Amino acid sequence: MICKRSFWRCWACMLAALRSLMSLMLAATPTGIAHATVQSALGYWTLPVPQQGSVPPTHHRFAVRIDAAACGLCHPQQYEQWRKSLHARADSMGLLGQLPALAAATRGKCLECHTPRAEQQALWAKSRAAAPGQLQGVDCAGCHVRKHQRFGANTRDGTPHGTVEALSLFQQSAFCAPCHQFGEDGVSLNGKPLENTYQEWLASRHAQQGRSCQTCHMPQGQHHFRGIHDPQMTRRGLKLEVHRRSFGIEARAWNAGAGHALPTYPTPRIRLLLEWSEGEHRRRREHTIQRHLDWNPIEGWRELSDTRLLPDQTAKLVQPLAHSHQATLTVIVEPDADYHDRVYPELLAMLGDSLSEKDLALLERAWLESGQSSYRLYRSNCPAWTGSDVLCPVTIPDP
Ligand code: HEC
Ligand code: HEC
Ligand code: HEC
Ligand code: HEC
Ligand code: HEC
Repeated sequence: MICKRSFWRCWACMLAALRSLMSLMLAATPTGIAHATVQSALGYWTLPVPQQGSVPPTHHRFAVRIDAAACGLCHPQQYEQWRKSLHARADSMGLLGQLPALAAATRGKCLECHTPRAEQQALWAKSRAAAPGQLQGVDCAGCHVRKHQRFGANTRDGTPHGTVEALSLFQQSAFCAPCHQFGEDGVSLNGKPLENTYQEWLASRHAQQGRSCQTCHMPQGQHHFRGIHDPQMTRRGLKLEVHRRSFGIEARAWNAGAGHALPTYPTPRIRLLLEWSEGEHRRRREHTIQRHLDWNPIEGWRELSDTRLLPDQTAKLVQPLAHSHQATLTVIVEPDADYHDRVYPELLAMLGDSLSEKDLALLERAWLESGQSSYRLYRSNCPAWTGSDVLCPVTIPDP
């Protein structure tokens, strides 16, 4: 196709590009996951979760509504934890701002994971004016309620919503896979789907040792769902050790506690930044931990590099230094790096003119916020060499 105007101004190119960009998140049906428990999860996780239908007359009148705030009346602890989680905000600015510009089928796919219930999706279709967070993203009912029946890890009789039915699925990683693992029909590069968390976990010692997603992300049944946006959670995953040796600096960072690649998605970036002075000059060297992807209309998706750390894998940064030099190592986590550097700028360039002012404003704010989630994970100051190797102290800097 020949574009008379510049590429980003050409409609046909724009739409082709958009389709490919969107395919990042497309075709995520888990039909390709060859694992028995995931197959059995499919029965429970029909996406979208079908309309609940009519409420059994035996339900207490306070248990008729199924929005999160209604559950929160009687389950305040779960509600307070979930409310601050990213699941509660999965109907985000960055999602809602681009939905109107997508083809209906594509949009349906996005909503399957971001607002999984049919009622939520009908609400969006009706008004198209939902404010971010209003649809409540991945909510209590999305995970717990089918045809008004509550499901959970344990059986409970005689609750205001009748008998809660126990499903072992609630304590298995397969429960999380429908939204955190692409199937065989999803985009895959170098044999690795763009979302591969369940398979990474399955291949790890954590699966063998009986640690599920819930063990780490829902300890004692908590509903925080903390991940890479939370510094403490990331510190549980990534450990750091820095040595001052005769020849210079030797830093090791390893995945001690994440049950999958660290990070598992191509969107975050972790930077090990070493800085020192040589006379007048400030010097720096950097090692990046990231699955770095790119997309362009000619070659499509490409994997530029993959330096993520599989469970127990180590990254090393070795820098020769004169004995008299001191150095500082800082570990910086940018949870939304790829959204900020690539996804939002490309979306705005492609869609800018066709979006309503409201949607444009949502995407611009999402872009801005994606640049503000970064934090410093560790800092380590290494002294000059004074005759013996030392372990440099690692501290937790102010965010
Ligand atoms: C009117 C009060 C009330 C409302 C509203 C309510 N529940 Fe419950 N729920 C209970 C009581 C009481 C129990 C049994 C005691 C317990 O386990 O906390 C229970 C138990 C449960 C359990 C089993 C807990 C366990 O220990 O394994 C789940 C899961 C559950 N509710 C989910 C929900 C969801 C999801 C909603 C909203 C869609 C909801 N409930 C709304 C009162 C309520
Ligand atoms: C992403 C899915 C998901 C969402 C969203 C979710 N839950 Fe849960 N919930 C679970 C799973 C899985 C368990 C079982 C955890 C375990 O036993 O390790 C659970 C357990 C529970 C329990 C039993 C707690 C216990 O200590 O055993 C209650 C009650 C509950 N959830 C209520 C809620 C309420 C209320 C909300 C919304 C405010 C909610 N859940 C949102 C997946 C979810
Ligand atoms: C298989 C489930 C799945 C599908 C389908 C899916 N997403 Fe997501 N999406 C996720 C998960 C999980 C994350 C969080 C991990 C990350 O940031 O990559 C996420 C993150 C995002 C984010 C960044 C965080 C936020 O909410 O602002 C945006 C924007 C987004 N998705 C938009 C979309 C759009 C648009 C589509 C459809 C073209 C889509 N997603 C389809 C699972 C999905
Ligand atoms: C042994 C503990 C452990 C297990 C098991 C585990 N995780 Fe994690 N997870 C972590 C830690 C620690 C982080 C923070 C560091 C990071 O991002 O990898 C994390 C981060 C994440 C993130 C943030 C996004 C990103 O790019 O890293 C998601 C999403 C996630 N986990 C989902 C899952 C799912 C789904 C499973 C089960 C298939 C699972 N985790 C199993 C510990 C665990
Ligand atoms: C219905 C789909 C769905 C299910 C089921 C689901 N998630 Fe998620 N999850 C998402 C989406 C979408 C996001 C991204 C939210 C956002 O930022 O827009 C997400 C985000 C997360 C994050 C935060 C990642 C970060 O960047 O910090 C963690 C951790 C996580 N999920 C863990 C789990 C675990 C553990 C389970 C199973 C108990 C689970 N999820 C089940 C859709 C789902």
